[in-house]
Amino acid sequence: MKVMIVPTPEIGARIVADRIEGLVRYKPNSVLGLATGSSPISLYKELVERSYSINWAKVTTINLDNYCGLADDHPQSYRAEMNANLFDHILIHKDCQTFVPNGMGDEEDIEAECCNYMSRIIERGGIDLQILGIGTNAHIAFNEPGSAFDSRTRRVELDEATREVNKRFFGGDITKVPTHALTMGIGTIMEAREIYLLAWGEGKAEAVAKSVEGPVTTQVPASVLQLHQNAAFVVDDAAVLALKFKDRYARVLDF
Ligand code: GLP
Repeated sequence: MKVMIVPTPEIGARIVADRIEGLVRYKPNSVLGLATGSSPISLYKELVERSYSINWAKVTTINLDNYCGLADDHPQSYRAEMNANLFDHILIHKDCQTFVPNGMGDEEDIEAECCNYMSRIIERGGIDLQILGIGTNAHIAFNEPGSAFDSRTRRVELDEATREVNKRFFGGDITKVPTHALTMGIGTIMEAREIYLLAWGEGKAEAVAKSVEGPVTTQVPASVLQLHQNAAFVVDDAAVLALKFKDRYARVLDF
């Protein structure tokens, strides 16, 4: 795993967008694992700006997670978020090329959805490049502290801390934040061939430091990335404030 310190999220976004553009040129039917939340927004803006130079025709996108109980047209559902930030602005068939877990339905529906979700990834040969954000408790996707490193797509209960942080998207009202979610598991994320975790701002500093320099433990889900051969934390100066050994990492001044 490597760490790349960049001056701004926009510069980080350009670096990762370049990699995606190159990958899709080399492998037009690439499978991209995408994330939601505020961290990848600069990347999606950059990808939209490059829509003239990326051919999305054969690409598949697989999102990491979604809330249970929010229909696709709910503005806070991750389907609506992805459409608004990326899919509505690029030439991609949402119905057959983009996948976001569907957290609606009863226990049986959810179980079937989790199974189908995993099959989709396997049928397409696995994820080529995975984008991640990180929670303030170091969760990745909705794999909260304690999640097994070999976990797969499943329904999970959200930590109170995560609901508290995410209530900003629900008008500040925690009672409106769903209590459960569907998430790709850590085992699946770790099988991606290449991973970029994006983290901006001081609010992520503690989680980044624990994940990069602390012990690999299920209590710090993102620490598992230390074991990945081709993962990078792309972080800004504020997000590395708590790192002890900042000078060891690559610093990109401009791109
Ligand atoms: C959510 C998502 C994660 C995301 C994290 C950080 O809980 N499930 O996938 O990485 O929050 O969000 P943000 O990028 O808004 O800080």
